[in-house]
Amino acid sequence: DPRPLRFTSGSGFILIYIDQLTVHLFLINILFLRTLEESCMLICGDGSSYFPDKFSVTLFLSVAMKSGGTQLKLIMTFQNYGQALFKPMKQTREQETPPDFFYFSDFERHNAEIAAYHLDRILDFRRVPPVTGRLVNMTKEIRDVTRDKKLWRTFFISPANNICFYGECSYYCSTEHALCGKPDQIEGSLAAFLPDLALAKRRTWRNPWRRSYHKRKKAEWEVDPDYCEEVKQTPPYDSGTRLLDIMDMTIFDFLMGNMDRHHYETFEKFGNETFIIHLDNGRGFGKHSHDELSILVPLSQCCRVKRSTHLRLQLLAKEEFRLSALMEESLQTDTLSPILIRPHLEAMDRRLHLVLQVLADCIEKEGYSNVVEDDLLVEGLNTGTAPQR
Ligand SMILES: *[C@@H]1O[C@H](CO)[C@@H](O)[C@H](O)[C@H]1NC(C)=O
Ligand SMILES: *[C@@H]1O[C@H](CO)[C@@H](O)[C@H](O)[C@H]1NC(C)=O
Repeated sequence: DPRPLRFTSGSGFILIYIDQLTVHLFLINILFLRTLEESCMLICGDGSSYFPDKFSVTLFLSVAMKSGGTQLKLIMTFQNYGQALFKPMKQTREQETPPDFFYFSDFERHNAEIAAYHLDRILDFRRVPPVTGRLVNMTKEIRDVTRDKKLWRTFFISPANNICFYGECSYYCSTEHALCGKPDQIEGSLAAFLPDLALAKRRTWRNPWRRSYHKRKKAEWEVDPDYCEEVKQTPPYDSGTRLLDIMDMTIFDFLMGNMDRHHYETFEKFGNETFIIHLDNGRGFGKHSHDELSILVPLSQCCRVKRSTHLRLQLLAKEEFRLSALMEESLQTDTLSPILIRPHLEAMDRRLHLVLQVLADCIEKEGYSNVVEDDLLVEGLNTGTAPQR
């Protein structure tokens, strides 16, 4: 009985019927190897089930609130039963996170979700499921199609004659924090749903460098400079590429200023030696005028990096491949462009140099071969193709 597997990309809406056997192959293709379009071609054959440009017009069949989150998120079901996670805009692109806000009470930003997807592709990590922007008509596409009375009841018209709603959640779901349209349209991010958990179970892993999520307490890594030695001896960080994957994740989060990486996920089916998935990137891009150096602590404590990552970072620091320029170009393809204001783009260039500086210091201290792990050679031999991950 084929089940629909569906996801969205910046350029189209895709519906693919796929059976349980091919789902794993498919996942590897999406997240591991190639672009969305290419991976679809591999699986879909002639690409007949790929509809470019359908996405921006595909109607929602129903809308429900996602339970359990701290901030309001909506699950949008399309008319063909595809689903995506909608995070409505809470902050304008110009607003910075107030200095007295903790990382755990910061807003989740829709544009950060979109930008994180593009950054992940530029870094060639391919660990973030596709995310795209969308302008939603709040009455027609949310209020009138939801069967959730609790959500429906939170709609109102503001004194400025804009449509607003707030839903139910544990943070910021009140009249004071209502999400208001202009006058009835609101921006948001739509993130592809990974396959149903019944089909492809995921495992959630605690980030060893997780923050304390407490106003006063410090985490162990903040007080123990040798913390990485401990992590290195603990499975699954004691073998395979997991520790190096965490270093990639650290760099990714530092570039966008995301302090909220408490967990990451893997597909259970693939065991421990598999790629990791970075969901929930909405707390990135909160401050452009500040570089949060504590996010880089795993890198400076461990002094390890994949050669492929190191090479790519060096490339992105060059004038002709400047990270900010590639990001700007990539983000222009989104319907809600511009996604990031210039100071955020420039902050990424500045932070990239800080990452390279940490790595240069590591190499000087410990020697190149103790810091940089040659992943390119091994993967090239295994696959018989160009290096990729
Ligand atoms: C949004 O949908 C309503 C119908 O529910 C329509 O009257 C309104 O014009 C739409 N707004 C825009 C900006 O298209
Ligand atoms: C996978 O990692 C976990 C550590 O969380 C470990 O307990 C388990 O034995 C590992 N599995 C394999 C097959 O190595």
